[in-house]
Amino acid sequence: MHVELTKQGDIALLTLNRPEALNALSFDILQQIGSAIDEVASYNDVRALIITGAGDKAFCAGADIKELRNRRLIDQKRGAELGQAMFAKLDRLPVASIALVNGYAFGGGAELAMACTFRLASSHAVFGLPEVKLGLIPGYGGTQRLPRLVGESRAMEIIMTGRNVKADEAERIGLVNRVVEGDLMEAGLEFAGKFTRYSLPVLEFARRAVQRAGDTSLQEGLQVEADLSTLAYRLNDAEEGMAAFEEKRRAEFKDG
Ligand code: CAA
Repeated sequence: MHVELTKQGDIALLTLNRPEALNALSFDILQQIGSAIDEVASYNDVRALIITGAGDKAFCAGADIKELRNRRLIDQKRGAELGQAMFAKLDRLPVASIALVNGYAFGGGAELAMACTFRLASSHAVFGLPEVKLGLIPGYGGTQRLPRLVGESRAMEIIMTGRNVKADEAERIGLVNRVVEGDLMEAGLEFAGKFTRYSLPVLEFARRAVQRAGDTSLQEGLQVEADLSTLAYRLNDAEEGMAAFEEKRRAEFKDG
């Protein structure tokens, strides 16, 4: 197994563990990632998922290039669809995901990080979608998720030049939420702690509403927001949150 799934308190931790190949994504590893995300979706005691790479050199160097050679076109297409489908599971996961980018995040590795809800990067992390250098284009969501994160013009340049984006630039353009100087795992757990104490269904409604902003008209997005904010209002947690405000105490949410 090249994917390890563990728990640290109420946080699930998925580690890509193939450091000898810079955690490159074979098709088998893609399937393992999908199964691990399915397993996290079935937990009822987990409030966030952290994804990182083993070692301190790479988060993930992308699709396994050695596996990509000499394939039939139909297999290449199915491979792209597999990668897209496995990463899309993160969108549907009931809890938010945080990529801890501990080194190189190239190609499919950058695409996995971009499919997470949040990204924290160590100061030596380097991002890139270098597929053009291989005569390819990104296939696991990069052409769609990068422009949503950094805007079309920047995404176009990064994809068409295949250039490296270092951690400080990634933070400046909004590709990562923040760069971490110290211990990345500690920072990731602290980051998760900033939202995991709130009501899980409410956090999920907020994620769903924000996700729609990238792929719908303003009018439809506002309707989704009105519907989901009404759903949130119907939960006991909304009553508890507002009562706690009035009573000047900390809210005790029960996820319902
Ligand atoms: N696939 C398969 N093996 C890979 C790999 C990859 N993407 N990236 C690195 N490796 C392997 C290397 O072949 C090497 O193995 P060997 O020791 O058996 O030769 C080992 O990992 C260490 O790599 P390097 O010796 O190259 O390490 P480096 O420090 O000199 O360079 C690097 C690091 C700059 C990240 C370099 O490895 C590199 O450029 N890797 C490829 C990055 C890339 O092009 N990614 C995109 C892949 S295509 C894709 O992802 C398509 C998509 O959209 C899904």
